[in-house]
Amino acid sequence: SGKFFVGGNWKCNGTKESISKLISDLNAATLENDVDVVVAPPFIYIDQVKSSLTDRIEVSAQNTWIGKGGAFTGEISAEQLVDIGCQWVILGHSERRHVIGEDDQFIGKKAAYALSQNLKVMACIGELLEEREAGKTFDVCFKQMKAFADNITDWTNVVIAYEPVWAIGTGKVASPEQAQEVHAAVRDWLKTNVSADVASTVRIIYGGSVNAANCAELAKKEDIDGFLVGGASLKGPDFATICNSVT
Ligand code: 13P
Repeated sequence: SGKFFVGGNWKCNGTKESISKLISDLNAATLENDVDVVVAPPFIYIDQVKSSLTDRIEVSAQNTWIGKGGAFTGEISAEQLVDIGCQWVILGHSERRHVIGEDDQFIGKKAAYALSQNLKVMACIGELLEEREAGKTFDVCFKQMKAFADNITDWTNVVIAYEPVWAIGTGKVASPEQAQEVHAAVRDWLKTNVSADVASTVRIIYGGSVNAANCAELAKKEDIDGFLVGGASLKGPDFATICNSVT
């Protein structure tokens, strides 16, 4: 449902030089019309990307502060992101949940504040391998969804990213069936707990070892509305192939 959406999460990668090359490749790429494309550079390169990347591609941060800026050493506020023309923010990424230690409520509140400042949000959810093996995938994803739903009133500017942690950076992509099963369950959860309208319009994208070779099969699934791409988004031509896997 909704327009196909592909995000490139560059994570903590890149230099001025490598990013300049990536921007050239992206500017030269031919992208299908019916796909929204967004890239998320590290904070310090957002300005460089905004000033040289085609407007065809929107720009995202990978995190933001939970509220209004001020005496919060080392943080970047939603207001500051908007000030430099950044349109999106990724929130709840598994690396922030499991490496940095952000919890559901903290992430939910960040989402509410970012949306209040007119930043659009990629809201990430996903289970650990041990949780999947214990049969807890839906429980974990629904709990993470609830923290977002408790804080979000208008879902127009939200894209949900299902990223099973065991698939991130491992080369072990979820099968199209595994991803579809969770996407459909999350949509069903939204129908019951938010509204039928949000359930049918919100985009649910998949992330975790997506590459130019496996994207087409995943993109065919009914409830997979796009991708959040890590490693393969650092290679312009591969990322363009993934964007163009829209069916
Ligand atoms: P990889 O595509 O490198 O597995 O990373 C996925 C991801 O975490 C995107 O946010």
